This record gives sequence, structure tokens and C-alpha cells, in this order.
Amino acid sequence: MPGAIRIAVIGGDGTGPEVVREALKVLAAAAEKEKFEYALREYDYGGDRYLAKGGDPNRMTVEPITDDEVNELRQYDAILLGAVGHPDIAPGIIEKGLLLKLRFQLDQYINLRPVKLYPGVETPLKDKGPEHIDFVVVRENTEDLYFGGGGFLRKGTPVEVATQEMIATRFGVERCLRWAFDFCRRRNRKKMLTLVAKTNVLTFAHDLWWRAFNEIGEAEYPDIRRDYNHVDACCMWFVKNPEYYDTIVTPNMFGDIITDLGAMIQGGMGIAAGGNINPKGTSMFEPIGGSAPKYTGKNVINPMAAIGALAMLLQVVGDQKSDPAVRRAGDRIEMAIARACPKMKSQSAGKMGMGTTEVGDLVCSML
Ligand code: IPM
Ligand code: MN
Repeated sequence: MPGAIRIAVIGGDGTGPEVVREALKVLAAAAEKEKFEYALREYDYGGDRYLAKGGDPNRMTVEPITDDEVNELRQYDAILLGAVGHPDIAPGIIEKGLLLKLRFQLDQYINLRPVKLYPGVETPLKDKGPEHIDFVVVRENTEDLYFGGGGFLRKGTPVEVATQEMIATRFGVERCLRWAFDFCRRRNRKKMLTLVAKTNVLTFAHDLWWRAFNEIGEAEYPDIRRDYNHVDACCMWFVKNPEYYDTIVTPNMFGDIITDLGAMIQGGMGIAAGGNINPKGTSMFEPIGGSAPKYTGKNVINPMAAIGALAMLLQVVGDQKSDPAVRRAGDRIEMAIARACPKMKSQSAGKMGMGTTEVGDLVCSML
């Protein structure tokens, strides 16, 4: 029998700890049903700890997480993250110093974001239902505009210059594409992979994507239909006919943007989950909504996205460790979410017809 799965838990800021608590409740119930062992350890990384360590709220003066602390996390099978983002800390400090640092240093090069409308969940799209909204975005997660290159010249003067660089490496693009082609093949729906980019304007970085996409697709994935959308057109199709999509692969920045649009059409931030995956290392799973400071501690935030992140964690780790009980637990939670959603009034914070903790209980009862 495979050993216990080891999960590091980072509740983080705002409502993060509350939604993670519900996910852990569901984990305990699912582990009992599927009979697998797990070990948890909680870490207090986030904005409050940054301030407690004496960090300046306006510029990064201490490390929100050190290299040694990141290395400690490598021993886990996965990380469950609540949310990062603190109202008293300038934007970018915790995001870069914690979330992006973890994604980069743990080389979580895939950001997996399913866009699935569960039954009973309201979408703002007229005349669309669960049969129309069910696709997956594979976002590259370590390059593009996110790598941090650029700088200022003559900062603060009227002749200031700021640059922000976009990179695409053949290695980084190829590994992401191969993962997306494999995923699309395993998913086994339309067997269509859509590259979302902007080849008509970003004629260097996205030319590399385009060539790699076609070369790898032609040589290694003849069974997968290759499709292409410019990112602006893709936004249009998400709203007009989302049923068109199967699997999308896209660079980091566009992936960030289109997955928020995706989250809205699947019922909002209360339900959208994402995984930061290193197929051979430690992956991290999170609800994709933020820390929602105004809802903190009120028992009104929706934990469904965190529960969905947990389901994804168990599916990915179960497959990675070839542990069928863990994989089944992930699938079981996903089915429980589908059964729980119609019992809720809405997926929006404060309008669910029940509190945060009741949603956790409801999902447990549906397992
Ligand atoms: C996300 C978030 C992050 C990102 C922020 C918090 C840095 O928006 O996970 O989509 O831009 O990737
Ligand atoms: Mn985002």
C-alpha cells in the first residue's frame, strides 16, 4: 500500500484560512471513505506574517518566504493554498514574494484551470448550461511577462522609461505544449487543442509558440486536432459559444486574463479552482479568487473553490503516486460538489443561503 500523502497547508491571507478549513473537513471525510492516509502541516506564510516580521508595507524589505522555507516544502506531495493578498500591503509584494516565488522555485510550470459549469450553478451567459461550459485552460506558469524582467530609467522624472519584458523559451514552451497535448488526449473529448496567443502582433514570442505547437503536434500528436485563436477573439467565443472549446493552451499572461473570464462563466470566483503543477515535483492547488478582505471572518465566503482545489490536488497526486484510492477520493469530491451546488442559492459570497461552514458540511454529506 502506498504511504501517506503529505500535504503542506498555507491558509494565507483574508478568507484563505476559512475556505481551507472547509476543504480540510472534506479531506478528512473523503479519506475515511476511500481509506487512505494523509499527513498535514500548516504554515503561516502570508501578509500577516510579513508584517509581523517587520516587513515594510510599501516595498519588500524582508522575504515573505525564504529559499530555505521553499526548500522545506519540496518534501511534500502537494501544497494547498488559501489566498494571498493583504489590504495593508502594496500590491505585488506578497504576490511576487510568496505566490510567484513558489510557482517559479518549485517549477510548477503548468497552471491548470478547468472551466466547468456545475448543474444548478448560475452563469451570466444567456441560454447556456452545463452542457455548453466544460473546457480546460492549460496556462504556462513560469515565463512570459511574469518572469520579472524589465526596469526603470530616470524613474520619477518626466522623461521616465519603464520596460517589462516577455520571454518565451523553446524549452519552456515545449514542455507546456507536450503536457497540454497529453492532457487533451487523456481527456478524450473532442481531441482538439486550441492555442490562444496573438501571433499577428507578438511576432517573436508567439511565433515561437506557433512553430513549436505545429511541429510537436504534427510529429507527436497526429490524433489531436490543432486549433488556433487570437486571444481577443477567444474572449469573444468564451461568451458567445463556449461549447466550442475542449482544451486550451496559452502563455502565462493571457492565461491569467482569460481564466478570470472563464471563472465568471462557470459561476464566479466562489467556485473556480486552479492547480500549479510540477509533474515531477511538488504541486500547489488554490481557489483562484483572491483573499476577499471585506468578507474575512464573517462565515459568508464560498469555500467551494477551495474544495475544488482539494479535489484536483487528490486527482493529480493520486495519479502521480499511482495511488488509486487518492485519485478516487478526488473524483468523489468532484461528484459531491456537483451534487451540492444545486442545493445552494448562489455561489456568490453572502448569497449562498448558507454559511461557509455549512457548505463544507453539505459537501461532506454528499460524499
Ligand atoms: C492568479 C493570480 C496571480 C497571477 C496573482 C495573484 C499574482 O491572479 O493566480 O491568476 O497573476 O497569476
Ligand atoms: Mn489571475
